[in-house]
Amino acid sequence: MSSLEISKTVPAMRRHVDNWRGAGARIALVPTMGALHDGHLTLIREAAARADRVVVSIFVNPTQFAPHEDFARYPRDLARDAELLNRMGLADLVYAPGVAEVYPSGFATSVRVEGPATGLEADFRPHFFRGVATVVTKLFLQCRPDVAVFGEKDYQQLLVVRRLARDLDLQIDVAGVATLREPDGLALSSRNAYLTKEQRAIAPALAQTLAATVARARGGCAIAECEAEGSAALLVAGFDSVDYVAIRDAETLAPVRDLAGPRRILAAARLGKTRLIDNISV
Ligand code: PAJ
Repeated sequence: MSSLEISKTVPAMRRHVDNWRGAGARIALVPTMGALHDGHLTLIREAAARADRVVVSIFVNPTQFAPHEDFARYPRDLARDAELLNRMGLADLVYAPGVAEVYPSGFATSVRVEGPATGLEADFRPHFFRGVATVVTKLFLQCRPDVAVFGEKDYQQLLVVRRLARDLDLQIDVAGVATLREPDGLALSSRNAYLTKEQRAIAPALAQTLAATVARARGGCAIAECEAEGSAALLVAGFDSVDYVAIRDAETLAPVRDLAGPRRILAAARLGKTRLIDNISV
């Protein structure tokens, strides 16, 4: 079992990573916001399979939250997360910087991705991808991993990170991992902890509706019609509002009119104050 180091500053983290790299090790980075669950652990397993050393970053990134969003109440428990990782035995280092380490006073730079970062989540969370792209670019440059592992759970984020790594010549292989789900189909998410018992009972309808909408589309239902039916089904199931149900090109996320080519169906809907997202292959 490897011993788990915790670094809170860039130089401390770099000391470890530079040593490992100097010894010829291949480095993987798994960026997270903590509140680790089994979905995160599948990413760490993939990272360990692809590299010799695994760095897990834990940072609740303020720039990807809008003022009205859940930055303040986002669950934070570094001791618990570190204990979980220690028991798992696959991570070598937790990089857990404070906000001032990542965004020192006077910080004035951001990374803006277009293409996959437009539409869908961006229509409802206009700050989001600029915050994600900025922090992920910083984490990549701080750690300089050979491979970085992200979940398909946040499919648009995965495509945005792949795009920026290519566009900025970062030479980092961005690996995607399939979404881990509860037995009833609900995608694991740190935000599931916000759900009441009643909301938790409704939540699996999101994944079920995605699957049903794919079946309708395969059966010949027009894309726009299937999407509208999917939204209506979520409301009937008990969701309070639906941001989108959308069938898109799986590589670019551009709108499509047919199923000729790789497609992905993505959805976002709200249960009370909690916003859930999910997606599957069409
Ligand atoms: P966070 O929500 O903590 O997620 C960290 C990683 O875990 C992401 O790549 C996400 O897609 C993946 N993940 C979450 N739930 C999953 C599940 N059920 N199955 C598989 N993977 C899952 O995403 C972020 O943090 C942040 O935006 C971040 C990339 C760290 C930038 O701040």
